[in-house]
Amino acid sequence: MRHLIDPTNLSVSEVGEIISLAERIIADRPGYSQVCRGKKLATLFYEPSTRTRLSFESAMLELGGSVIGFSDAASSSVTKGETVADTVRVVSCFADIIAMRHFKEGAPLVASQYARIPVINAGDGSHSHPTQTLTDLLTIKREKGRLDHLTIGFCGDLKFGRTVHSLIKAMSRYEGIRMILISPEALRLPEYMLHEIENQKQKGVEFREVRTMEEVMPELDILYMTRVQKERFTNESEYERVKDSFILDPEKMRAAKSDMIVLHPLPRVNEITREVDNDPRAAYFRQVENGKFVRMALMYTLLQWNEGARPAAVPDLGPGLFIDNTKRCPNPRCISATENVDRVFYRVDDACRCAYCDAKI
Ligand code: CP
Repeated sequence: MRHLIDPTNLSVSEVGEIISLAERIIADRPGYSQVCRGKKLATLFYEPSTRTRLSFESAMLELGGSVIGFSDAASSSVTKGETVADTVRVVSCFADIIAMRHFKEGAPLVASQYARIPVINAGDGSHSHPTQTLTDLLTIKREKGRLDHLTIGFCGDLKFGRTVHSLIKAMSRYEGIRMILISPEALRLPEYMLHEIENQKQKGVEFREVRTMEEVMPELDILYMTRVQKERFTNESEYERVKDSFILDPEKMRAAKSDMIVLHPLPRVNEITREVDNDPRAAYFRQVENGKFVRMALMYTLLQWNEGARPAAVPDLGPGLFIDNTKRCPNPRCISATENVDRVFYRVDDACRCAYCDAKI
């Protein structure tokens, strides 16, 4: 059974196949209008969303399938104490594929262990957002014509920005990539991502951290802006201190290359002024539309890959993962902190990490 929980669940060549399929769908939408006839998508959204949920739903409808689900956990039996594991066992009886967004890190991984149908992670806490990454990759491919030999600036909330974490992992696999991390000290990448980029540096990917946009604007091919994620802060005054750290305006855009593109997963608050929307380099609304096409390609592909597949009687943990129920993940935002799940870990560079959220044990 193939799921998409982390961007690296897809090989580089599989990502290429999904992007090519998305491009074929864009060129021939009627040709794909019935390929998922009879298939049902369940959208299980425990956290708010506009783009991701609606693009998943419109993607399935455009493929000829149908959609069930909830957009607010308050209207589901979660309020009665039902676990993620039981919820997906139940939904597996009603649907053919699940897209799940959850505020707990690792919840979609738990879902994939208990579902009898493919599970797609539509965003888990501040951890990962692999379908936004596919959206970003399709947009970069369409706007820049390639996925390699690019300099990307990631700007804003790199600590809680799950789209940044997933895109860094995905882009690190292409040749000639330079990444510039633009954030205040308080919003630097989380520990597990800093560890990841140290490993990537050894493989030849260039990274550097800076504190201002201005010092790097002229060298960027892509500027990936992000919102400071108010909902993830436990301390309101800390949010107030960093919320206006970076604001992209026409003055700053003047220093950028004429063919630089600005991406943003959206929603935005004030980090890109409205005047920038009229700049042809502002690609963030084109990016939104690509999200629907790439999710059409992803769901069609996953349904084909899993045709006739049956889940193992005992969940297949995957390579390098092991269960140790005597250990505890220290991350309070991890699904293992609140649900009675097997504690699953992996080892990397002598450290033991939680498989659900990557926290170091
Ligand atoms: N980009 C993104 O995940 O947007 P939503 O939160 O609106 O789904």
